[in-house]
This record gives sequence, structure tokens and C-alpha cells, in this order.
Amino acid sequence: MKKITSFKVMDILEKAIEMDDVIHLEIGEPDFDTPEEIKEEGIRAIREEKIGYTHSFGMKKLREAVAEYYNSHYGTSIRYDNVVVTSGTSPALILGIEAILEYSGKKEILASNPGYACYPNFVSFLNGELITYELDLKNGFKQDIQAIKSKITDNTAAILINSPCNPTGVVMSPEDYRELAGLGVTIISDEIYQGLVYEGKRYDSILNYTENAIVLNGFSKLFAMTGWRLGYVIVPDKYLDLTQKLAQNLFISPNTISQYAAIEALTNSNVEKKIDAMAESYNTRRLFALDELQKQGLEIAAIPQGAYYIIIDVRKFTNDSLKFCYDLLMNARVAVTPGIDFGSNLEGCIRISYATSIENLKEGINRLGKYLNSLKNLPHFNEV
Ligand SMILES: Cc1ncc(COP(=O)(O)O)c(C=O)c1O
Repeated sequence: MKKITSFKVMDILEKAIEMDDVIHLEIGEPDFDTPEEIKEEGIRAIREEKIGYTHSFGMKKLREAVAEYYNSHYGTSIRYDNVVVTSGTSPALILGIEAILEYSGKKEILASNPGYACYPNFVSFLNGELITYELDLKNGFKQDIQAIKSKITDNTAAILINSPCNPTGVVMSPEDYRELAGLGVTIISDEIYQGLVYEGKRYDSILNYTENAIVLNGFSKLFAMTGWRLGYVIVPDKYLDLTQKLAQNLFISPNTISQYAAIEALTNSNVEKKIDAMAESYNTRRLFALDELQKQGLEIAAIPQGAYYIIIDVRKFTNDSLKFCYDLLMNARVAVTPGIDFGSNLEGCIRISYATSIENLKEGINRLGKYLNSLKNLPHFNEV
């Protein structure tokens, strides 16, 4: 496992699971059920014995549905034959990154610090080199094109972006996309939290700004389908042969039952209404959590516009976010994620998820506030 770093959050999560009366704000997973209409199609597929392998790229009907969904929701004009279905966005990342590394013969993938914790592991596993560009807390972790530009070399294979961003909730503006596209480097765009945007355009894609891009997306977040394990990668023609070779060898085919369910997810108008209601509910929780955090005097590092995470700056109390999270769990029974999991620029911060009920948010934030106040009252408290 030398190429893979383990996440500190797992230590916290495993400890939290063993304990009673813990408020869980660490989990990045929808708390909603998968809509009934989707579940029914999965059950029907099993009953009708639709359980064999499919084409390594996924079923044509699903690939067509993805293309149509992207075009109608994101405003793109993609064709179904560029859609490769995978068993989750995580395998899509493997296909997308490997295709670029192999095709370009270059090694470097640029990604932000802070950024999604798994990216460095994917790149390292695939023998690439992750080069980070720095996003600044002072700037609310907004995209920084100059920072990216300064890291581009002859060996840059791609720039890996994620909007809305896990962990910061920052959403790229059309201007950001335009500038990024103008750099002339291939973009890998992880769009898994698109549709969960609460300020600005609800859906946008790098494909509206450049064709020189590989897009990753999936059903886990927007459709509340984490355990169904289904995602996809949209690749330009030139990578298709390579992607097919990889998909066939690594995965044979994506999960068949979930593919039937996913067609329903993309085409049933009742599902669409439920998805809209979920997104609305996340927004209500976001506003509630921001308000509660402010009432408790907690420092919000960046106002999130998308996904379902908020970064809280606790640098006054610690420069060791892992230890802070552990102590918080043991003393106040609230589980949160240490910022360090997402890169050195988030050390001294914590991430909470608002994919949970208003009651949990209220109680969790209240406990967090009380705990921080108790720290302030300690005789040896002096701001770090
Ligand atoms: C930014 C980002 N990309 C990809 C994934 C992986 O999602 P999937 O469940 O589709 O593998 C996650 C999951 O948390 C994520 O946050």
C-alpha cells in the first residue's frame, strides 16, 4: 500500500462508530433514500434476470440517457458514444486519469490544495505525479488561475478540477471556466456535485467552455445512490480506444442492475421532482447551519455555494486538526473531518457535512460551540 495514503478521518469515523450518542457531521453521504421509482427498476431488473455483464462501456440506452441529461441540464452537446459508464465516479477517475497519462506520455496532474482527499492517491497509484496549486483561505479558497498557470510545465498532462468542490463547497464561475479553458491544457473535471449548487447556475460543465476535457460524474450524490455504485466518464473520441481497453480489462462491465435503475433516475419526471426537493432541502440546511455557526461565534472559512460541506476555521484553537477532531469527539461527542485530510492548506480547519437533519445540525453545532467556549476558558488558552 505504499502508494496510497490512509485518511485520518477513518480513525475518527471508526472511533465514532463504536461510541454512543455521537452527532455525525463527518459523513459525505446523502441522508435521503434513493427515490422509489429508481429502486423499483433495480428490483425489476433482478426479478427479470437482467443480471449478466453488459457492454464494457455500459448499456446503450443508459449512455443515451446520460448524453440527453447532460445536454438538457448542463447545456452541452455531447454524443452518447463518448459516454463510458462505470461502477461509480471513483472508477471513472481511474479511467480518466490513466487515459490522459497514457495518451499524453506526460506525468503531471495539477490539482488544488485543498482538494478531494482521494485525488493524490489515484494519481500516485497510476504512476502520475500530483502537483498542487495553492488556494488561499484568505481568498475563500476561490479558484486561482494564476496559481494554476504558474505550475504548468512541458510535463503537465492535465488539470484536475472539482466544482462544486469537496471539501470547500466553492463553485467555479463561468469566468473561471473560461479562463481555465484558455490555458490550452486538458482538463479533467469532476462534476459529481453539479446540481447541488445553491447560488448561480445549478448545472454547468467544463464542456461548455472547451472540448479538450474529460468529465467525471455519477449517481451517488445528486440521486442519493452511493451504494448503487454507478458513475460515468465522458471522453473525447481520441481517448475512446484506450478507455475501452482499460474498462474491459479492469472492470469487464459496470453494475448491470444499477444501470437499469439509473436509466429511470435520468428519465422519470417524478424522480426529477424528488431530486429538486432534495437540493432545496440541502440549501435550507446550508442556510440553517451557516446561521447556527454564526450564532455560536464560529469562523466560517468560506461561504459554500454548492455540495454539502462547510469549512470551519479553528486555527485559534489548534494547528493539529486531527488531534482537535479526536478531542472533540471524545469530549463533546461530535464527529467532524480534520482539514488536513484535504491538504496542508486546510490544516487548522475542520469540515462538517450538512447532509443531515436540521435537528442533528442544531445539536452538533451547539456541542461544537460549547466545546470551543470551554477551551477558551482553560487557563492555558492563548490563541495559536
Ligand atoms: C469530489 C468527489 N469525487 C468523487 C467521489 C466518488 O464518488 P462515487 O461514490 O461515485 O465513487 C466523491 C465521493 O465522496 C467525491 O466527493
